[in-house]
Amino acid sequence: MREQTELGGTFTLPGTSINLYRIGYGAMQLAGPQVWGPPRDVNAAIAVLREAIASGVNHIDTSDYYGPHVTNQIIKQALHPYPAGLVIVTKLGARRGQDKSWIHALSRQELSDGVHDNLRNLGIDRLDVVNLRVGGVLEPAEGSIEEPLTALVELKRQGLIAHIGLSNVTPRQLVEAQRITEIVCVQNFYNVAHRNDDEFIDALARQGIAYVPFFPLGGFTPLQSSVVDRVAASMQATPMQVALAWLLQRSPNILLIPGTSSLEHLHENLRAAALELPTTAISELNEIEKSVAKGQ
Ligand SMILES: NC(=O)c1ccc[n+]([C@@H]2O[C@H](COP(=O)([O-])OP(=O)(O)OC[C@H]3O[C@@H](n4cnc5c(N)ncnc54)[C@H](OP(=O)(O)O)[C@@H]3O)[C@@H](O)[C@H]2O)c1
Repeated sequence: MREQTELGGTFTLPGTSINLYRIGYGAMQLAGPQVWGPPRDVNAAIAVLREAIASGVNHIDTSDYYGPHVTNQIIKQALHPYPAGLVIVTKLGARRGQDKSWIHALSRQELSDGVHDNLRNLGIDRLDVVNLRVGGVLEPAEGSIEEPLTALVELKRQGLIAHIGLSNVTPRQLVEAQRITEIVCVQNFYNVAHRNDDEFIDALARQGIAYVPFFPLGGFTPLQSSVVDRVAASMQATPMQVALAWLLQRSPNILLIPGTSSLEHLHENLRAAALELPTTAISELNEIEKSVAKGQ
């Protein structure tokens, strides 16, 4: 492994020997527009994946419903046979409609089909970590997740999944899940300008569970904030590096999966690990929350 300081240091998923660098890579942007079909330039997508691995990244976040199938197929084309230590985290619980919509796919049959689609398209025998994705497109919705989670645990018993995480969940759903199985990570919407999960993150940190924010840079419409711009300018960094550095400093259990289809952005994002935000910058960035809350 590289130096602890590189890629933000490491975090071990609870109850496992999986040691992940805190800066990983989110693969959703490798599919075509609206996460549908192939990208304009498959070779460019392959180059980004290979460069991420060459730079030391050992955590890729994906799903077979990106494309659908396309993103996983590109990961396989770029990286198979996979280097030792690479952990591919995927998601189950959704499928795509012909109109490109995102539809729940949480029945026993759909979850089983989803596992086999992931295994086939990634070219592996067992999935390292599967996040059960419930709730809405962006936010969680309360309600029992016992049925789909029990079906996923059965697939784990069959040896098709090594570890289970959750996505788009509430603290109450985590408690319910932990009565059923061990949860190693939670993936919810969170970034410097969207902080609904502040208390949840702290509670997960106390339990040693990883929190992996999706849309760490704002997602399809990357973050735009005069406060982030100001802090970035004062530190000779870019706004995206400030957004990522803020997350790394927010809590040691936060793991990053910024998505990009650009080699230049990939390098820029990885370099965020070297950026140490002083407390004055953190206080300034905390003002964003207040202005968002006031609707400014
Ligand atoms: N669990 C869930 O429900 C869920 C939902 C959404 C996403 N995810 C996961 O989270 C990962 C991250 O989300 P995401 O990729 O959608 O959003 P993101 O990481 O917040 O942002 C990606 C966007 O930022 C741009 N970008 C990246 N680096 C940049 C830089 N240095 N400077 C300027 N722009 C930059 C990208 O464009 P370029 O390609 O031009 O760089 C892209 O438009 C996904 O890959 C996916 O695996 C999970």
